[in-house]
Amino acid sequence: MKTTLKGPIFIGRSWLEYLKMFNLDLKELNNWNILDCAAGASSFTAYMFKNHLKSIAVDLKYDKTPEFLEKMCKQHLQVLVDSLQPLQNHFEWYFFKDLEELKKHRMQSCQEFARDYQKGWGKRYLKADLIDLPFADNSFDLVLCAHLLFIYDHRLSADFHLKAVQEMIRVTKNQLRLYPLVKHKGEKSVMVDKVIQNLPLNYQAQLVPVDYQFRRGGNEMLVISKKTSK
Ligand SMILES: C[S@@+](CC[C@H](N)C(=O)[O-])C[C@H]1O[C@@H](n2cnc3c(N)ncnc32)[C@H](O)[C@@H]1O
Repeated sequence: MKTTLKGPIFIGRSWLEYLKMFNLDLKELNNWNILDCAAGASSFTAYMFKNHLKSIAVDLKYDKTPEFLEKMCKQHLQVLVDSLQPLQNHFEWYFFKDLEELKKHRMQSCQEFARDYQKGWGKRYLKADLIDLPFADNSFDLVLCAHLLFIYDHRLSADFHLKAVQEMIRVTKNQLRLYPLVKHKGEKSVMVDKVIQNLPLNYQAQLVPVDYQFRRGGNEMLVISKKTSK
């Protein structure tokens, strides 16, 4: 019998997926201090550290040991792959050629994450809840949040979405980028408009195309930033 998980599951996209999902240009990142929220087993922070760039990752699960998280990530990845098997025609196969390639790519991300988490646990990997981040106001140049808000809108309330966005914009000096905005059949989450409508008055939201798509229609991110005075 196949295992199913309620989620949010503990897996992670690769650093390359992050660069594409969030329109990040490595040359620009030199002077940026980035926060990756609900980072899971993504290899983004490991890659940044390896390249002497600044990124902190937070996740609810970062009180667990490296061994525990690596095992959990591998199990959840297998459950994900099994669950995608009958749904393959809901997805776009151009970043990944097929499910096998997806599994290999994400497994590599999980291993890169686990190696770096072992060294950086408590330093660049911190346990935190999105709605209560342990950082002062304006601590980061850029805050990223992928694959938690919007895609789990059947589990995470509107109140959670609004509080999480408010908390993430509190800790960023410049921008918050959120991806993706669509659920697995390509329909836009109802929370996207709710988040936009409830932004503080001095903030603006923009839908920006990105060079990545796996979920159908998942080729845009939401960029939230302070309005500039003229
Ligand atoms: C599907 S993973 C996404 C990982 C990564 N951002 C990516 O795009 O691949 C979702 C992550 O959200 C984390 N999470 C769930 N609720 C959270 C919360 N309230 N605060 C912080 N992290 C949370 C889970 O532990 C899990 O690692």
